[in-house]
Formats: sequence, structure tokens, C-alpha cells
Amino acid sequence: MVDLPFFAPQASTIAGQVDLLLLALIGLSSVFTLIVVALIAYFGIKYRRGRAADRSQPPIGNVKLELSWMAGLLVLAVGTFTWASLIYLRSFNPPDKSLDIYVIGKQWMWKFQHQEGPREIDTLHVPVNRPVRLIMTSQDVIHSLYIPAFRLKYDVIPGRYTNLYFEANQTGEYHIFCTEYCGTNHSQMRGTVIVMEPRDYQNWLSGSTVSAPLSQAGQDLFTQLGCSSCHAAGASVRAPSLVALFGSQAPLEGGGSVTADESYIRESIFFPQKKIVAGYDPIMPTYEGRITEEQMLQLVAYIKSLGGGASQAAEGSSQTGTQVSTESPALTETPDAAESAGTPTQP
Ligand code: CUA
Repeated sequence: MVDLPFFAPQASTIAGQVDLLLLALIGLSSVFTLIVVALIAYFGIKYRRGRAADRSQPPIGNVKLELSWMAGLLVLAVGTFTWASLIYLRSFNPPDKSLDIYVIGKQWMWKFQHQEGPREIDTLHVPVNRPVRLIMTSQDVIHSLYIPAFRLKYDVIPGRYTNLYFEANQTGEYHIFCTEYCGTNHSQMRGTVIVMEPRDYQNWLSGSTVSAPLSQAGQDLFTQLGCSSCHAAGASVRAPSLVALFGSQAPLEGGGSVTADESYIRESIFFPQKKIVAGYDPIMPTYEGRITEEQMLQLVAYIKSLGGGASQAAEGSSQTGTQVSTESPALTETPDAAESAGTPTQP
């Protein structure tokens, strides 16, 4: 690629394709701009006042010229559209085996949560040459995660999960920006993504102070909130079992079904009356306002760990016990001390 300072490094698998498309669009626009400017200049000079040019028979129409002109433009427009769409589809389609990392945007910081337990603020460690999926949400206003070196940007929206995929293809440190005006310190909402060799990444993970995986924190919370009294593994009298739920099709009361993904789980916990599973009464209370977005991610990770289409075998299917842990590891991690807002108290 051209080595100019205003080109960010190409550090992801799609970066080169995006740049090529951009250059092609700039090239096309330049060619047409030049043609138009040249014609304006040419006719301006040829027919300027006082010039004895022939003005007697202005051309009225030329079907052949107009048809070929339209056909040519159509091919160009549809061609660039198709090209851009292919790149878009490639960058927004989940790779088979991706590493899931959760992202929470907040005024004015980026919080990253790894499934293995570690969480970080304004810094994101990822392994090189491995597809990564970011599952993102916001706890206040709309933000937008932008990693120029990966040619990636997507909105981070309160009340829903959005996904972003990338595969970094060279190690190094790259900028993270927020590109949605989100308040006074929007311009300070920056971070760094650190792309590491897989071995270094593993070392980094195991060197973290948090040893318990996210799903473990979720399991503790699940017990603590009393979810297990209805949703315990094996129990399906009052509430549907959550074992092997993730990634499957959940049948709904009144017909139809829904894919049990992160968004569905989140919705069912915050707005349990919205989609009732077939055969059950709408008796679940809402947890809106009772748990934070971080805790929601823990619950999502726990339910994922119970198995299902996209997940590994259950690791916590024996959580029928009644022991209540007062604090889950990820809740007491130190980076939160940097936050000004306190987390809501446990119910
Ligand atoms: Cu967050 Cu701008």
C-alpha cells in the first residue's frame, strides 16, 4: 500500500480489500471529474463571446450515445455496488470458530470482557490470525467503535447487542476511537488494541489476576439472583431448561420460534414478557434495572456454557445447589475502581 501517514496500517484481513475499493472509487470519481472539467473548459473557450464558432444547428438528440452512456454508467454503478457489498458481507458474516469478546461502551471509556475472565478498560488484547467477534453494547448513550487499522467501525447501542468481526493479520498496537459524538469527552474515548502472537496472548490471559471464567461469575450470579429455583438444570416445570439452549431454536407461545442468541437471552432477562416460550406461563419477573450490563454478560456467558449449537459441553450443569456466593470474581476486579459510577447493589 502507499506509504503515506494518512493511511492507517493494514492490520486485518479485509483492510487491503477496503483500501482497494476506496482507491477505485477515488479513481473513478477523479476520471469523471476530469472529463467534466475538461469539457467545460473546452466548450467555454470554443463558444466564448465574440468567437466565430458555428452555432447554427445545435444537436438535439443522439439515441445511440444516450443509450450507451446509460448502459455504461449502469454497469459501473452496479459493479461498484456489488464489489462493496461483497466486502461488507465478508466483514459482517461470522467466521466459523471465532473468539468472542464482549464490549461495553460507556461515557467515556471502552470496557472489554474476555470469556476467560480478564477484563480491561481502553485496552484490548487479541491474538493474531484468529477470527474475533466483538459482542457490543452500551450502558448509556450511542457510541461507535472504530479501529482504523482494521477498517472496521460499528455503532454500540444501549439496549441491544451489535456484532463486529475481524481477523488481525499482523501484531502491533493500533488505535481505537469512538466515532459517535457521545458527550463532552467524546474525543477522549480512545483506546488501544494490542495484537499478539497466540502464545503471548495465552500468557497474557493466564497472567491475569482474574482466574475464574466469565461463565463462572455468571453461574454464581444465577444462583444468587434465584434464577436456579425455576431454571435449574433438569427442572422444567415452571420455566424452560436452559441446558443446550444457546444457538437453538426456541419455540414461542402463539407459534413461531426464535434463535436463542445473545440478544434473545438479554431480552428474555430484561423483558421476559416479550417472547414467551411455548407451554409456559408469563410469570418471570423482569431484571431490568436490577443487574448491570456487565452482570448481564456474565449470565449470557453462563447460559452459553450450558451448551447448545454454538458452544461446548456444559461445564456448570450441576448448579442445583443452594450455596450463595456474595461476590463473583469478575465483579470485584480492580479496573472498575477507575469508573466513577458505582455498580447497582445486589438485590
Ligand atoms: Cu463514545 Cu463518542
